[in-house]
Amino acid sequence: MESAVRPQVVAHRGASHESAEHTLGAYLKALDQGAEALECDVRLTADGHLVCVHDRDLRRTASTKGVVSSMELADLSQLDFASWKNPWADLDDEAPDRDPDRDGVLTLRRLLETVAAYEHRVELAIETKHPTRYAGLVERKLVEMLAEFGWHEADAPVRVMSFSYVALQRVQRLAPDLPLVMLLEHARHWPVLRPLVDDDWIVGPGIATLRKHPTFARRLADSGRDIHVWTVNQEEDLRTCLALGVKAVITDRPRFVLDLLDNVWPLPPPIRQSRRRGADPADR
Ligand code: G3P
Ligand code: CA
Repeated sequence: MESAVRPQVVAHRGASHESAEHTLGAYLKALDQGAEALECDVRLTADGHLVCVHDRDLRRTASTKGVVSSMELADLSQLDFASWKNPWADLDDEAPDRDPDRDGVLTLRRLLETVAAYEHRVELAIETKHPTRYAGLVERKLVEMLAEFGWHEADAPVRVMSFSYVALQRVQRLAPDLPLVMLLEHARHWPVLRPLVDDDWIVGPGIATLRKHPTFARRLADSGRDIHVWTVNQEEDLRTCLALGVKAVITDRPRFVLDLLDNVWPLPPPIRQSRRRGADPADR
């Protein structure tokens, strides 16, 4: 193992390997499992609420037609976002009873309240999904809500991620001290983005990209930028991340990854550094 530091373990859509993604139940399970941060995707409803949903439409996770952005929160609240994950639960005596509070649509506000009330610091990696008909309104509403929690400034337990450079620019204008993660869909996008993104932006490639393009992965690691990688669900993937000195691994299986990091390959926790390179006089 080449890495000297232990990456932060981020629960992707909650403990989404076991529980239906983006439900309160999935996030509570991730917290129980010891996740150090929670990842979520956000979309705006027709009446202006930020909800934690990945797909543009509701077919996969709520088994119904409809598009999140054209529905009001009250309508989304009638839907079951958990049954798709365990369609045979009604026939399984050992399956937990349905709980509309844990299984329904999750608002970002509820997720923030859950994290704010949690017994110790847990971070949030919030991804704004684009394209969407609401364009920049998503980032405006997001920063407004973060400000309500006092989480729009430096040292907030929040970072904002997007595959959209323009979306991250908006967040930077609205909340200049929030950490930003430029997600990368493909390695070939990096030469275009590299001259644009600030030095202190985190880069977020997928694990498949890193494994398919090892030279790109090594160059990115050697660039000195912080790297957060999704979606790291296998032991080999975690090894790849450790070898590259990745700072955060985003996983559907937080318990599995924590067990590997804490019990199989114990590493010292990272030394917390100033986010802005050069902020420490020793770096200048
Ligand atoms: O954490 C980033 C990752 O979630 C991006 O992909 O499709 O799962 O939102 P996706
Ligand atoms: Ca995501």
